[in-house]
Amino acid sequence: MERPKITRDIFSQVRDFIYEKCGIYFGDGKEYLLEDRLSRRLSARNLSSYEEYLFFLRYDPKKEEELRALYNSVTTNETSFFRDINQLEAFRTGILPKIMERNSSRRTIRIWSAACSTGEEPYTMAMILSEEGILLNGWKVEILASDISENVLNSAKRGVYGDYAVRNTPERYLKRYFTNNNNSYTVKPDVARLVRFANINLVDSLQVSKVRGMDVIFCRNVLIYFDDHGKRKVISFLHDSLVKGGFLMVGFSESLFSITRAFRPVGIRKCVAYQKI
Ligand SMILES: C[S@@+](CC[C@H](N)C(=O)[O-])C[C@H]1O[C@@H](n2cnc3c(N)ncnc32)[C@H](O)[C@@H]1O
Repeated sequence: MERPKITRDIFSQVRDFIYEKCGIYFGDGKEYLLEDRLSRRLSARNLSSYEEYLFFLRYDPKKEEELRALYNSVTTNETSFFRDINQLEAFRTGILPKIMERNSSRRTIRIWSAACSTGEEPYTMAMILSEEGILLNGWKVEILASDISENVLNSAKRGVYGDYAVRNTPERYLKRYFTNNNNSYTVKPDVARLVRFANINLVDSLQVSKVRGMDVIFCRNVLIYFDDHGKRKVISFLHDSLVKGGFLMVGFSESLFSITRAFRPVGIRKCVAYQKI
């Protein structure tokens, strides 16, 4: 059967709906991309046009269930273990020592991977902290990992990965923190137990307001899908979730210049981290 086409008018209505719900912005000329992402949802609901689909999303008794499926369809979930190693080294050598000094009396570190996709980023953090020997010295490590997509969260909770996901992982980490079985890599329980997963929509102030007292937030490679208005909103919510002096890390090629003045950019190893003033 031929795939339904989206008209210009319905495209802008669907685009605005998605933007309002989750901040992801499909710019002009992205009709084909949106069709590509949503055509399976139309088939799944037995609908023959995007107009009907929009009606379903707005008024059907199953609209909440469909919204979750929509998030699974419109998000881009590319990630890997040890992604952007320079940033991770900046975290390990420049940020971690500062947090440990500041938190030395309460001996707790709180980290949030705010768009964790299939879990590689928060598990990488857990491995780096384990490797630093922090847990052996009686520190408590709490890593919150969240995403808007249920599909990726379910996969993250399983903690089982293929070759491609671990392609940048240093050999010693592969040996120490994974069980390898026929090219399938399972995160070991000692690492997995440090990570708690949750479904959090970053543009929902109520959901984000439940997260407080974070020392570091990683919000990498997600705001690239938002416009400036959406970025400002999320950054101000994340600002409130950090402790004073806490750090925000965005993707290696992203910048908060022109988005906020509430952070001090700190250069570490050719990377920039944003410190809450
Ligand atoms: C490209 S992945 C980045 C994963 C990881 N942070 C990294 O850098 O490798 C982007 C993730 O952002 C999530 N995302 C998109 N919009 C979101 C929103 N409004 N709230 C929470 N997560 C969102 C997507 O589901 C996706 O898993």
